[in-house]
Amino acid sequence: MKHKIAPSLLAGDFLHLQREIEMINESEADWLHLDVMDGVFVPNISFGFPVLDAVKTVCKKPMDVHLMIVEPQKFIPEVAEAGAYMMNVHYEACTHLHRTVTAIKEAGMKAGVTLNPATPVSLLEDIIQDVDMVLLMSVNPGFGGQHFIEHSVDKTRRLKEMILRKGLNTLIEVDGGINLETGKQMVEAGADILVAGAFVFGSPDPAQTIRELKEL
Ligand code: DX5
Ligand code: ZN
Repeated sequence: MKHKIAPSLLAGDFLHLQREIEMINESEADWLHLDVMDGVFVPNISFGFPVLDAVKTVCKKPMDVHLMIVEPQKFIPEVAEAGAYMMNVHYEACTHLHRTVTAIKEAGMKAGVTLNPATPVSLLEDIIQDVDMVLLMSVNPGFGGQHFIEHSVDKTRRLKEMILRKGLNTLIEVDGGINLETGKQMVEAGADILVAGAFVFGSPDPAQTIRELKEL
């Protein structure tokens, strides 16, 4: 399967979200990645459900919602109502992860489990069969434009091995510091979806940058 690209709106122009989303709609992007932060799970606050509700009215691509919040299970109805295709919760934020993953799917969404850089993939051994996607953070979550953590390449490779060993078709998404160079390394290591924020929105021609990421 050819890898997918999910631009992160976090790096977009918040004064002109409609314009940014229309650019995404017309581009070769596969999904739109949306980063919700609460200032508790991560040391930053981004945007919440009223913004997602507004994005839904314009966005024609599947919405990939990444919740960097404590107790994400409390907000499953809100995320579903906001039109999310994929709901990503952090492993580190969920005490009853199996219950949360089950509830996400019952709400009609795909379930993604996210790992911080220091959380080992081996902790997924007894949940991976139930999740649609694993989102590997290749930076510490909370901010766009950070430097890619090299160890993420090896981590992606080991996650891919686990998925193949179990005969699953779980997707692997990677998020943080992705550009043409790190993106290529991650695709070769087994990533199915590349999230890219600063690299896309900080470039002179974001639609062309998305095309270049797709061609890796
Ligand atoms: C970081 C977010 C990312 C972020 C990636 O906490 O989860 O999705 O937008 O941004 P870049 O691609 O700029 O590292
Ligand atoms: Zn993200």
